[in-house]
Amino acid sequence: MRSRQEPRRVSNGVIIAAMLLSLCVLSIVKARYCSTPFAKPDDPLQEQMNSSIRMETDEPASKAAGEQEEEQEEESPATGGGAVPEVSTTTPTAVAGGGKGKPTCFMTSKRSERCEARGDIRVEGNASTIYIGGINKEWKTKPYARYHDPVAMAYVREFTLKPADEFAPACTKNHSVPAFVFSNGGFSGNLYHDYTDVLVPLFLSTHQFKGEVQFLLSGLKPWWVNKFTLFFRQLTKYDILDIDNDRDVHCFPRIVVGATFHKDMGVDPARSPGHVSVVDFKRALRRAFGLERAAASRGGATGNGKPRLLIISRKNSRRFLNEREMAQAAAAMGFDVRIAEPDQHTDMSTFARLVNSADVMIGVHGAGLTNMVFLPRGAVLIQVVPFGGLEWLTSVTFKNPAKDMEVTYMDYNINLQESSLLDQYPRNHQVLTDPYAVHKQGGWDALKTAYLDKQNIRMDLDRFKKTLQEALDRLPPA
Ligand SMILES: *[C@@H]1O[C@H](CO)[C@@H](O)[C@H](O)[C@H]1NC(C)=O
Ligand SMILES: *[C@@H]1O[C@H](CO)[C@@H](O)[C@H](O)[C@H]1NC(C)=O
Ligand SMILES: *[C@@H]1O[C@H](CO)[C@@H](O)[C@H](O)[C@H]1NC(C)=O
Repeated sequence: MRSRQEPRRVSNGVIIAAMLLSLCVLSIVKARYCSTPFAKPDDPLQEQMNSSIRMETDEPASKAAGEQEEEQEEESPATGGGAVPEVSTTTPTAVAGGGKGKPTCFMTSKRSERCEARGDIRVEGNASTIYIGGINKEWKTKPYARYHDPVAMAYVREFTLKPADEFAPACTKNHSVPAFVFSNGGFSGNLYHDYTDVLVPLFLSTHQFKGEVQFLLSGLKPWWVNKFTLFFRQLTKYDILDIDNDRDVHCFPRIVVGATFHKDMGVDPARSPGHVSVVDFKRALRRAFGLERAAASRGGATGNGKPRLLIISRKNSRRFLNEREMAQAAAAMGFDVRIAEPDQHTDMSTFARLVNSADVMIGVHGAGLTNMVFLPRGAVLIQVVPFGGLEWLTSVTFKNPAKDMEVTYMDYNINLQESSLLDQYPRNHQVLTDPYAVHKQGGWDALKTAYLDKQNIRMDLDRFKKTLQEALDRLPPA
C-alpha cells in the first residue's frame, strides 16, 4: 500500500504552479473551443456518442449516400487536418481580410468548415476543383456541416482549392453574383439531417445575399432538390447547379464553400449575419410553402373551434401500438385529431400545411418530429421518449431546439410498462435493468438495436390524457 504521506510532500509551490498552469491551459482551451455552440457533453455517454447523434437512416439517405462510396477515397479532413492554413473559431471577420483573392478557411464550429474567396474564381465542377487567383497553396474542404461525424463525411465529396496559375482552365461561363457551394451527401435525405446539417446552416449562411447568389450543389439528388425547391427559391433567384456533373468552367467574383453552423436545428442571432434567428428561418419556410397560420390556439385554426392534435405515426419501428385508442381518447377530450406519417414521397407542401394546422403534435422520437419547423408559434410538441436512457439524444435533437422555434416542448418518457421491450426480454435482462451499461458496452449500434429499432409503444391512456390536458392548458388561449 502506498504511503498516505506521499502526496503531502508535494510542496505548496508546486501545487500553486500546477493550478496556475491548468488555469492557463483551461483558458486556452476555452478560447479555442468554447465559442463552439455544440453543447459540451457532460454525460460520459454523450461524450462517447459525440459523433453518433443522428437519426438512424433506414430510408434513402444511406442508400443514396452509398452510391458515392467508391468515389470517396481521400482521407477525411476531420482526421487528416493539416490542409487548412488559417484556423479561427472566434473571429471570422478578422481572418477574412486576408487580401484580394486570398481564401480563408476556418471551422465555424466543430461541425463545419467555411472557405471564402474573392477575385478570380474558376470552378471546374466535374473535377471538384476551385481555382482561385492570388493564393499560393492548395487545400481541401468538404461543404457539409457534420465534420465531427466521419461516417457522414465519408459520403461528402471533397473540393480542392487551387491557385489559379497558367494551367487553370479558362472560363466558359461568367457569373456576376457570388457562388455558394454545399452538399447534400452525408445523411441528407433523412428529414432531421436535411434541416440540421443542410437547410438551417444554408439559411444562416446565405439569406444575406437576398437572392443574388448561385448555389452549386454537390451530390445533387433531384428528388431531394425538388422537395425543397420552394425553400431554395426564398434564398436564390437562380436554378441550382449540379456541380459534380457540370462540364463548364464557371467563373465568379466571389465564392463561399461550406456553411456556417451554430447549433442543432438552430441559429445564434448574436453571431448570424443580420442577426437572423431560427424564427426567421421558420418564417422563410412559411413563406416558401404558403403556410398561413402564425400562431396556435386552444380554439384551433378558427380560434373558436377545436384545437387540432396531430399524431405522427411510424410504421416500422417505434410504433404506437394503440394509436386508434389514443385518437379516440383525444377526440373525447375535444381535440380534432389527425394521424399522419411522412415519408420520402410525401409532398412537402401538403405535409407542411397539415403540421401548420396543428396546435399539438405528438410522436415518438424520430425524424418525423423535425416537422415541428412548420408548427405555428405557441404550439405544443410532445416528444415520446422510448425506454432506454435516451434523454440526451432526445434533448439535443428536439427538446433544445424547440424553445428558439417558439414551440412549447413537453416530453413523455415511456415507462417500462408501456414498452414492448417488456415482452422481448426477461425481466432481469440488462436491456431492461441497465440501459447505460448497454450504451457503454455496445455504443451507438447497441443502443440503436436495443432501444430504437426494436421497441414499440403502448401508451398508458390515463397518462396520455393527463399529458394532453397539460398541453391544452399550455396552448395560447383562444
Ligand atoms: C472535366 O470536363 C472537362 C471538359 O469536358 C474535361 O476536359 C476534363 O477532363 C474533365 N475532368 C474530369 C476530372 O472529369
Ligand atoms: C468523440 O469522443 C471520443 C471519446 O470521448 C473521442 O475519442 C473522439 O476523438 C471524439 N470524436 C470527435 C470527432 O470529437
Ligand atoms: C469571362 O470573363 C473573362 C474575363 O472578363 C473573359 O476573358 C472571358 O472571355 C469571359 N468568358 C465568357 C465565356 O464570357
